[in-house]
Amino acid sequence: MAAADTPVPGDPPVPALAERAHACARRLLEADRVLLASHIDADGLTSAGIASTALARAGIDHDVVFEKQLDAESIAGIAAREHEVVCFTDFGSGQLDVIAEHEAAGEFVPVIADHHQPADVDTEFHLNPLLEGINGARELSGAGASYLLARALAAEAAEDVGGPPVDNRDLAALAVVGAVGDMQNGRDGLVGANGAIVAEGVAAGVLEERTDIDLYGRQTRPLPKLLEYASDVRIPGISNDEAGAVAFLTDLDIEVRSDGEWRRWVDLDADERRTLVSALIRRAVSSGVPADRIETLVGTSYTLTEEEPGTELRDVSEFSTLLNATARYERADVGLAVCLGDRGTALAEARSLLRTHRRNLSEGLQWVKSEGVTHEEHLQWFDAGSRIRETIVGIVAGMAVGSPAVDRSKPVLAFAEANATELKVSARGSGVLVRDGLDLSAVMQAASRSVGGDGGGHDVAAGATIPAAERDAFLAEADRLVGEQLS
Ligand code: C5P
Ligand code: C5P
Ligand code: C5P
Ligand code: ZN
Repeated sequence: MAAADTPVPGDPPVPALAERAHACARRLLEADRVLLASHIDADGLTSAGIASTALARAGIDHDVVFEKQLDAESIAGIAAREHEVVCFTDFGSGQLDVIAEHEAAGEFVPVIADHHQPADVDTEFHLNPLLEGINGARELSGAGASYLLARALAAEAAEDVGGPPVDNRDLAALAVVGAVGDMQNGRDGLVGANGAIVAEGVAAGVLEERTDIDLYGRQTRPLPKLLEYASDVRIPGISNDEAGAVAFLTDLDIEVRSDGEWRRWVDLDADERRTLVSALIRRAVSSGVPADRIETLVGTSYTLTEEEPGTELRDVSEFSTLLNATARYERADVGLAVCLGDRGTALAEARSLLRTHRRNLSEGLQWVKSEGVTHEEHLQWFDAGSRIRETIVGIVAGMAVGSPAVDRSKPVLAFAEANATELKVSARGSGVLVRDGLDLSAVMQAASRSVGGDGGGHDVAAGATIPAAERDAFLAEADRLVGEQLS
């Protein structure tokens, strides 16, 4: 690779990945026309938003395409579009074996900004944290990798072709939405390479980081809904209890309504927020909620300071849910437009899609809770058939892990119908299980390949597609592999 010979301009946010980022950027700057291909979740949409903005600012013509799954068929479709260079974001590494064949046939040059477990093949322009010992499930997302590429593009364009005077640090806002959308936000907030991106976003004035109540809906939910729907910490008499949540709020010594309307978290001042959090923690303690659950009521929050207060876009986790509500329902165009700054028609459409997405998540979770899971020796699973869309079954599985329906000491596998002959599998573990040796990416890949399917992902969360008739054989092999890893 010639990358090492060329000095890297500027002050790169993540030095370990700078050479790879700059090599990718230089190849993109040489291209006549680029096809940008990305994944259909919040991380994939923000990746595409970042990369598309950076390409446009560097004067690089490009088209954008989204795929639910990058497999032999979708890669062949991408090749058929005959672009000289294809920039893959938030996927590509895991499918490098297939991509390399198209490259070898001279069909396109791949430039990859991803964070998934790479296949056993490498390529010249490959930006992935795992190649430099950085954790791809916690320290850098696809959007983060795309952000590093965007920063390198700005630096290279400024040096080489007299490009516009931008450094692309404003794109850190989208990078943080992608990282949080991929659940990379832990007890200490975003760390490692993600932390470096946060610091750049704060310095650029687009992002604010602080310790705050850690419930979903700080910007948009009326206070009773904020408390009632909080599912990760169950507080008896408040969680899933509308009248209880209302009574709790009414007893507090703060104004919880204004002009007859419920106020939202974002409407409270600092003193009012402290009063509410203290009362909530006191109630949790007195109801016997375990201390390690109570701790999770408070966490690190990220606010996009350029967005309108009280909107989904202001809070990174609400923003990521809004994006998931688009591309997972075949409306990636809407999600991308929002990422590119459309605050009119696209935002209105996204909000309407969000209502359906919310309903689907809540119905899906309800279904899992009422049906329960089946226990194997080393894992547990449920098969939703056609009751849960394959594009959101992973989110439901993740939400189920936080509910009493799921035993936290084993990983959970969730099946949903992909089409007439195939099943989608989503697997979710926990940080504790990963520390004990669990690697769901390896399990999903090996178990799916053993039955003629394919899969991959991260240690803590992975997925696969398998022939529908092979579910039980797949389960047996996955159970055996998990047992091996955890022994
Ligand atoms: O395709 P992608 O990498 O974007 O998907 C990552 C998935 O892994 C997300 O659905 C996210 O919810 C899940 N995840 C998780 N726990 C983590 C990290 C990721 O459930 N600690
Ligand atoms: O869709 P996404 O994975 O970004 O959702 C993030 C979290 O938002 C979910 O895990 C869930 O806890 C929360 N959520 C919720 N109610 C909804 C939708 C999402 O509490 N209707
Ligand atoms: O779809 P889901 O959210 O369960 O995906 C979890 C992780 O597994 C994601 O990172 C996704 O890219 C990966 N995955 C994969 N191959 C599949 C399905 C999912 O690598 N066939
Ligand atoms: Zn991702």
